[in-house]
Amino acid sequence: MPLDPISNPYTPGAGQRPAVLSGREQELQGFTARLQRLERRRGAQCTLVIGLRGVGKTVLLNRFGSEALKRDWVVVEHELTPSGDLLATLARLTRESLLELSPPSRWQRASRRVAAFLRGMEISYDLAGLSISTTPPDGDGDTPVSGDPTRDVTELLVGLGAAAAEEGRGVALMFDELQFAPVQPLGALVAALHRVAQRELPLTVVAAGLPQTRGVLAEAATCSERMFETRTVGALSPDDARRALAEPAAEEGVTVSEEALQIAVDFTDGYPFFLQVFGDHLWRTASSTVVTGRDAERAAPLVRDWLDRGFFTSRTERLTAAQRRYLRAMAELGGAEHSSGDIAAVLGLTSSAPVGQTREGLIRRGLIYSPRLGYAAFSVPQFDDYLRRHFELEPHTPRRRGTGDTEE
Ligand SMILES: Nc1ncnc2c1ncn2[C@@H]1O[C@H](COP(=O)(O)OP(=O)(O)OP(=O)(O)O)[C@@H](O)[C@H]1O
Ligand SMILES: [Mg+2]
Repeated sequence: MPLDPISNPYTPGAGQRPAVLSGREQELQGFTARLQRLERRRGAQCTLVIGLRGVGKTVLLNRFGSEALKRDWVVVEHELTPSGDLLATLARLTRESLLELSPPSRWQRASRRVAAFLRGMEISYDLAGLSISTTPPDGDGDTPVSGDPTRDVTELLVGLGAAAAEEGRGVALMFDELQFAPVQPLGALVAALHRVAQRELPLTVVAAGLPQTRGVLAEAATCSERMFETRTVGALSPDDARRALAEPAAEEGVTVSEEALQIAVDFTDGYPFFLQVFGDHLWRTASSTVVTGRDAERAAPLVRDWLDRGFFTSRTERLTAAQRRYLRAMAELGGAEHSSGDIAAVLGLTSSAPVGQTREGLIRRGLIYSPRLGYAAFSVPQFDDYLRRHFELEPHTPRRRGTGDTEE
């Protein structure tokens, strides 16, 4: 008898909370310890989770959020986009936090000051919707908005930290996709966090981003490295990958055999998103509450097909011819990181200069990233395999006008 689809415990989707968050115990422990330090008004670094697409950054971030909520913290979140305005976002998150901390009728001095400052920002930065209708008249010692983003963001977040301290609570500002943060306001945010840390205020930033986030932060502020406790998350160890598959099934009274687990772990390389896709197909394929190696063998080509049609096709659909050739040349070299020179050589070039723009375009689209200077790597596993199976290797052809074959 097939397994009940309603109790299928696997979660193959962006940001979908897995039934078992496997292999992230250390990250959680570290995070909770930092919250506890802040609660005791001891300094603690902010939290940064780095990793490729589909490794579980968002679900870990959300888990951190639930942990903070459980400890009665105020948690506000934002997912950055390439065109977002970080300064406006910070102002809005501050407003939201302030209202969450306590109702305006109970505000003490620090909260009232932040509310007055927000009203000033609304005018200075032409931002709508920051005023809080019940904002009481300005109190003593209000700080005027300077118009200098670094000073104003510092004022804002130090003020919010002080308001949190006044309420005996903490505030966590959560940012997903931090790699999209524009350098200048990000620098202002880091400077503000520096001041918050010096004052040991109970305010922290919890962020996640693709590997290039490190570079973006370093460019934004020299001290940013020290501001964050950075954890790189990736594929799960074979044991954690087994747990990610076996435990959710066990909770539903289903046993996944050792052979089935082995096939799934080998197929997915422990990559969290692929594990969920595999588990999902395994559930649909199985015919009894003991899932066998045969079931996994039958599921594997279905998973491959599902990934090809959705996950990988969406990544190659809108490529230019130059981008497709570049990716295909990279794939020829395998799934690891490759130097720009080696990739150019596969394209039949003696220098990587003619394809520099193509490479940049692919990085901007998040298909590849630069793990270190002069190197490129795929941002999802098994992409090389997909590209080799679906595209012919072609040499570089010089850019021609009017052919639609542009570098971008
Ligand atoms: N530790 C884990 N154990 C089991 N499954 C996990 C784990 N982490 C993530 N997953 C699963 O992996 C998938 C991807 O998770 P998530 O969306 O958080 O990744 P991401 O790194 O944020 O990806 P992107 O960069 O595309 O936003 C989801 O289906 C989620 O359920
Ligand atoms: Mg995500």
